[in-house]
Amino acid sequence: MKLNIAVLPGDGIGPEIVAQALKVTSTVCRKFGHELSYKEALTGAAAIDAVGNPYPEETHTLCMESDAVLFGAIGSPKYDNDPSAKVRPEQGLLTMRKRLGLYANIRPVTTFPSLIHQSPLRSDLVKGADFICIRELTGGIYFGRPQGRSEDGLTAYDTCVYTVEEIERIVRLAYNFALRRQKKLTVVDKANILCTSRLWRQVSQRVEKEFPEVTTEYMFVDNAAMQLILNPKRFDVLVTENMFGDILTDEASVITGSLGMLPSASIGIHTSVFEPIHGSYPQAARKNIANPLATILSAALMFEYAFHLPDEGKAIRDAVDASLNEKIVTEDIAEKGKAYKTSEVGEWIADKILNQKK
Ligand code: IPM
Ligand code: MG
Repeated sequence: MKLNIAVLPGDGIGPEIVAQALKVTSTVCRKFGHELSYKEALTGAAAIDAVGNPYPEETHTLCMESDAVLFGAIGSPKYDNDPSAKVRPEQGLLTMRKRLGLYANIRPVTTFPSLIHQSPLRSDLVKGADFICIRELTGGIYFGRPQGRSEDGLTAYDTCVYTVEEIERIVRLAYNFALRRQKKLTVVDKANILCTSRLWRQVSQRVEKEFPEVTTEYMFVDNAAMQLILNPKRFDVLVTENMFGDILTDEASVITGSLGMLPSASIGIHTSVFEPIHGSYPQAARKNIANPLATILSAALMFEYAFHLPDEGKAIRDAVDASLNEKIVTEDIAEKGKAYKTSEVGEWIADKILNQKK
């Protein structure tokens, strides 16, 4: 099969982790006889510095013409510490999500036996936790207008907007995921306070009737934040709006032992994007110490979701499991004094894939 991918390394540790995911991707292609071609393009602060736009037109064209996008991370302290900056790296990511129509962000949370002791939660709570967060990605307060400041600068406002259509398509997608899993869906909202959440609940209750095999529960977001640490095993599929999903998935990720482990797939109307859920971790940039596993696991999702090649995805997962078992890992999850470099972990996983039996 011909695989044509766009590679957007972005900022901070983005280039280093994406290089490892690309190494793994090309090894899988070699092993399984696929023809890989890829092109790199600019996003985020790197793109602002080069051309003054965090999502240049050229990058968008490349994404539209590719079969999948492998994405690193976006963000830079230069902009985080300057709230008055007119152009911000994160706008690049949001524009990309909007223009590619990536309304669903799939964030699978699984635990790795060899990492359970790294979790801030007790092992008995975490062992066996396995759920998927489905985050709506192109609506809500991230995109609602008006947004701004009053003329005197003393008031600021954001607007949360959802339409029936936006809610319906993401909730239906979540039900379809639940159907293929344990058939349990948790719809997370704040319907006791927010009007948009009441619309979510109303629409979800209607869609629920189409999926009688699935057990649905409705949960307020504050309770969901608590349940995630109290009993993560109770969840199968969660669906929620954009900002709640952003917050809950950072929380969910550390349950697995490290923020550096969680991949994601953003899917929707045009080309899908595969990216780790963590940020650009600028303090670690160019030090070759960042954990590449979330990005490598995002490449596994790319084979599964974008190319419908589950064996290739599994080859990556098996090699990642092996690296964890053999403790070929970066400093965030290594025992003291036994850390490997980002590139060494990528290299080891690629070698493992090459030597695995098919
Ligand atoms: C994420 C990130 C982004 C978001 C940032 C970098 C804009 O936190 O993908 O979760 O808030 O969506
Ligand atoms: Mg986030």
